[in-house]
Amino acid sequence: MSEIAKIELEGKSYEFPVFEGTENEKAIDIGNLRAVTGYVTLDTGYKNTGATKSAITFLDGEKGILKYRGYPIEQLAEKASFLEVAYLLIYGDLPNKTQLESFQADITNHTLVHEDVKQFFEAYPAKAHPMGVLSSIICSLSTFYPESLDPNRSPEAKNLTILRLLGKAPTLAAWAYKNAMRHPFIYPKNDYDYCKNFLYMMFALPTADYKVDPVVVDALNKLLILHADHEQNCSTSTVRIVGSSQANLYATIAAGIAALWGPLHGGANQAVIEMLEKIHNDGGDVDKWVLKAKDKDDSFRLMGFGHRVYKNFDPRATIIKKACDDVLEKLKINDPLLEIAKKLEKVALEDDYFKSRNLYPNVDFYSGIIYKALGIPTEMFTVMFALGRLPGWIAQWKEMTENNEPIGRPRQIYTGIVNRDYIPIDQR
Ligand code: SDX
Repeated sequence: MSEIAKIELEGKSYEFPVFEGTENEKAIDIGNLRAVTGYVTLDTGYKNTGATKSAITFLDGEKGILKYRGYPIEQLAEKASFLEVAYLLIYGDLPNKTQLESFQADITNHTLVHEDVKQFFEAYPAKAHPMGVLSSIICSLSTFYPESLDPNRSPEAKNLTILRLLGKAPTLAAWAYKNAMRHPFIYPKNDYDYCKNFLYMMFALPTADYKVDPVVVDALNKLLILHADHEQNCSTSTVRIVGSSQANLYATIAAGIAALWGPLHGGANQAVIEMLEKIHNDGGDVDKWVLKAKDKDDSFRLMGFGHRVYKNFDPRATIIKKACDDVLEKLKINDPLLEIAKKLEKVALEDDYFKSRNLYPNVDFYSGIIYKALGIPTEMFTVMFALGRLPGWIAQWKEMTENNEPIGRPRQIYTGIVNRDYIPIDQR
């Protein structure tokens, strides 16, 4: 017998059905609430509101569980390639050998970008933040592929746009870095896999051959998998709502990149390193900075700590913390910021302020230390997050379009001035 939710309003009783998902999550379906009661719900920040039903990613914030299409993140991070996971998220199942080879070949064939795109880069100042460059250039791809302007043109056209985005994003991301360095752009190599190609385009120079370190490739593969999707987070919700207006996929993904940029979201990985460097340069007094993070009158927050959903631990942070030790050991790097991060984590996890608020390290707390060890500059950290999240955004957009979900348009409660008449300017 399925549950029923009852609401008593102004002496009347209303019943609403309860929807239960495959992981026993329960929701009150208020689809007709306003029609039958005249009331809307109010939930600033959507902390208690389910925006959709989705079969892509499941996470349990209390138990620290994260699964993509039913596969535990721990297994995928250990055993899969990033493109296998991208295929899984977008098409629903892990690819067989033939499917993966075809998917890889299709993406490889789309790693080049139209030569005219280079003019866009030349227009940006060297100090342009690569997230601003990436978001605008991804949106500009829609001007090179006018057939993409109708996202529902055909399944084949939709898939071609998906392959173009997955193929071109690493090239554009690497070129955003080269642009900032005022170094010549490096073109992709068709015989390199996704991660190796990106690292090659990032760090190779025309003046010398560049060998990509397999340790770095493995670490990047794991990091991109761990960032690939995360249910209805801020940037994914942005993608779903922008896509619900039937905007083209390039513009929709550009909006997701913009939302991810914020320091409370994907921008936190850059903010974590800047915080650790500040603490290091200040003498490494971790206790002083933990006090600042607890002080309501101090705007300082422990970046990389806390999460809207994970109220126990972020399973990605656990995997990344271990990968941190492995990568730094293999690359023989001794980074004092890692020691500060570990001390910070220890002090915070023993402190009532953080424990009582369920504040634990999140995915961004250690990822910046690995990116730094891989030679990736701080301002590129959130771009790395975007590269990882791209298949998740695409999968969520594809699910929303295939489910023919209506345009997103939340309601509000008006709290402004009720009524007044216009006064001519000379009487104000
Ligand atoms: C990501 O949603 C996702 O899935 C996102 C993500 C993904 O994969 O897409 O996981 C990626 O965005 C990870 C989060 C990265 N952001 C940060 O690391 C920034 C620092 N963290 C916070 O700003 C905060 O924890 C949020 C934004 C992550 C969550 O904010 P909430 O859920 O709105 O919680 P809140 O701000 O209401 O905080 C609750 C309490 C408050 O104190 P009180 O008012 O109860 O006294 O905890 C405090 C906050 O002041 N608090 C912190 C803190 N985070 C929350 N205090 C100090 N340092 C912090 N980091």
